[in-house]
Amino acid sequence: MKMGNSSFVAIALLMSVVVLCNGGKTSSYVRKLIQNPVDMPLDSDAFAIPPGYNAPQQVHITQGDHVGQAMIISWVTVDEPGSNEVIYWSNSSLQNFTAEGEVFTYTYYNYTSGFIHHTNITNLEFNTTYFYVVGIGNTTRQFWFTTPPEVGIDVPYTFGIIGDLGQTFDSNTTLTHYQNSNGSTLLYVGDLSYADDYPYHDNVRWDTWGRFTERSAAYQPWIWTAGNHEIDFDLQIGETQPFKPFSNRYHTPYESSQRTSTLQYKWLTAELPKIDRTETSWLIVLMHAPWYNSYYSHYMEGEPMRVVFESLFIKYKVDVVFAGHVHAYERSERVSNDKYNITNGICTPVKDISAPVYITNGDGGNQEGLSINMTQPQPSYSAYREASFGHGTLEIKNRTHAHYSWNRNQDGYAVEADKLWLFNRYWNPRDDSTIHIP
Ligand SMILES: *[C@@H]1O[C@H](CO)[C@@H](O)[C@H](O)[C@H]1NC(C)=O
Ligand SMILES: *[C@@H]1O[C@H](CO)[C@@H](O)[C@H](O)[C@H]1NC(C)=O
Ligand SMILES: *[C@@H]1O[C@H](CO)[C@@H](O)[C@H](O)[C@H]1NC(C)=O
Ligand SMILES: *[C@@H]1O[C@H](CO)[C@@H](O)[C@H](O)[C@H]1NC(C)=O
Ligand SMILES: *[C@@H]1O[C@H](CO)[C@@H](O)[C@H](O)[C@H]1NC(C)=O
Ligand SMILES: *[C@@H]1O[C@H](CO)[C@@H](O)[C@H](O)[C@H]1NC(C)=O
Ligand SMILES: *[C@@H]1O[C@H](CO)[C@@H](O)[C@H](O)[C@H]1NC(C)=O
Ligand SMILES: *[C@@H]1O[C@H](CO)[C@@H](O)[C@H](O)[C@H]1NC(C)=O
Ligand SMILES: *[C@@H]1O[C@H](CO)[C@@H](O)[C@H](O)[C@H]1NC(C)=O
Ligand SMILES: *[C@@H]1O[C@H](CO)[C@@H](O)[C@H](O)[C@H]1NC(C)=O
Ligand SMILES: *[C@@H]1O[C@H](CO)[C@@H](O)[C@H](O)[C@H]1NC(C)=O
Ligand SMILES: [Fe+2]
Repeated sequence: MKMGNSSFVAIALLMSVVVLCNGGKTSSYVRKLIQNPVDMPLDSDAFAIPPGYNAPQQVHITQGDHVGQAMIISWVTVDEPGSNEVIYWSNSSLQNFTAEGEVFTYTYYNYTSGFIHHTNITNLEFNTTYFYVVGIGNTTRQFWFTTPPEVGIDVPYTFGIIGDLGQTFDSNTTLTHYQNSNGSTLLYVGDLSYADDYPYHDNVRWDTWGRFTERSAAYQPWIWTAGNHEIDFDLQIGETQPFKPFSNRYHTPYESSQRTSTLQYKWLTAELPKIDRTETSWLIVLMHAPWYNSYYSHYMEGEPMRVVFESLFIKYKVDVVFAGHVHAYERSERVSNDKYNITNGICTPVKDISAPVYITNGDGGNQEGLSINMTQPQPSYSAYREASFGHGTLEIKNRTHAHYSWNRNQDGYAVEADKLWLFNRYWNPRDDSTIHIP
């Protein structure tokens, strides 16, 4: 989809890459806290249930179309289905609008969901603050959001990047730090609630996650990528429909790309040529499992996907790829590894200024803890790696320049531990590497 001046494509699932020789920086930062993080208790303030009969909870929004003139408003009611209606108005309008959506419920083993509402509100003005009310007829709650600016080649826009968040005390810190950043839309790189780490995938932890993230996700779009923790396939308890809780709770605007129910490869090969870089200057890809990962955790899991897709990313000049899955931070230089043809033995990543920068932001803070075990020596493609929790920020300045920073939780929220200027691959394909690769 296009947002502001940047276009990006969300690719669900899939996993990781490899290779050796001395690389960039392994941070010497020493974390104070090494023990595994724990989930916040069910009665934590972060999960507070809003008061009132059938009060909407777990409110979250995501972009509803390609350009930013529609928004999908989602919420859960627990006492009765209630209304699917959203009332909304812009800051300057004298008139209220209403939109009607749909309600869903699902069961998972012995859990029954609340009433999950999704309403797409349309015909929005660009770069405009809207207020909206949900819970019509019973307890109402009001929120607001600002639409992205009209698509334009030099329009600045700031994204946040979070992955593998979970619902621990550390997750709460990550979210608070993100809220103190200037991000206008969050790019979420998969693995949401980690409810599946509980016996029977206790879906109550999907509800707590929805209430926890509402304080950001009700006010700005979160763009979803699914991770392995969203699969929720469990034969032993008779749950054989993959992605059941996720797909009921988190709707995405896939109709906007005329998606047919094709394989990921067919979809992507059709989608990439549609992007007009003279209109949409930045091309960002989100996926869950990283291709360039030098931690032992999920080492090489992304290989099957990389060998199939990597040449497309280079051909279409993808600027940056964000992934999660590995519970740590890592940033690559611009490298590729697509020359191998069975006979030539060329199977080492090499510097390639036509390639994207690969960033792993699997550092949201979930209960599985940090991936601290790194391959040694640091491979040459790896520019910076650190096993700490945090979040990323991508500030698009214009068609040629974007600034990326990574903010670790242990610092003040405005401290950048890793940062660099990214030059656009279409408009400014100069070398922007931060370390020397032979
Ligand atoms: C709404 O508009 C008023 C002025 O009309 C302004 O003071 C206020 O800050 C605006 N609110 C938002 C959320 O943009
Ligand atoms: C729009 O709806 C809100 C919330 O229900 C209400 O406070 C406001 O008075 C309405 N405005 C108009 C112009 O009807
Ligand atoms: C679901 O089943 C498990 C195991 O039997 C039990 O511990 C749990 O309380 C049940 N939950 C509900 C909502 O019935
Ligand atoms: C809750 O709202 C729905 C939809 O507006 C309405 O049909 C229902 O009567 C309301 N329930 C109560 C108890 O007010
Ligand atoms: C968006 O609106 C604000 C004022 O509300 C203005 O300062 C800004 O320049 C606008 N941005 C774009 C890209 O139009
Ligand atoms: C979570 O963070 C919020 C905002 O900083 C804070 O008000 C709340 O007390 C925190 N909750 C827990 C359980 O740490
Ligand atoms: C957000 O933007 C403002 C204005 O440009 C700046 O002063 C502030 O430092 C930024 N905050 C962060 C956390 O980067
Ligand atoms: C939301 O509405 C817009 C405008 O009609 C449409 O383009 C888009 O496909 C809709 N999105 C969803 C998820 O229904
Ligand atoms: C493999 O690549 C080498 C050099 O990169 C080339 O000489 C050779 O013809 C290629 N073989 C095949 C089967 O494509
Ligand atoms: C790191 O992983 C390697 C390979 O699995 C293993 O041999 C080693 O013991 C691990 N080290 C630590 C500190 O976990
Ligand atoms: C694009 O943004 C960069 C970084 O802010 C700035 O140095 C450069 O001058 C800008 N380019 C134009 C054409 O304004
Ligand atoms: Fe994962």
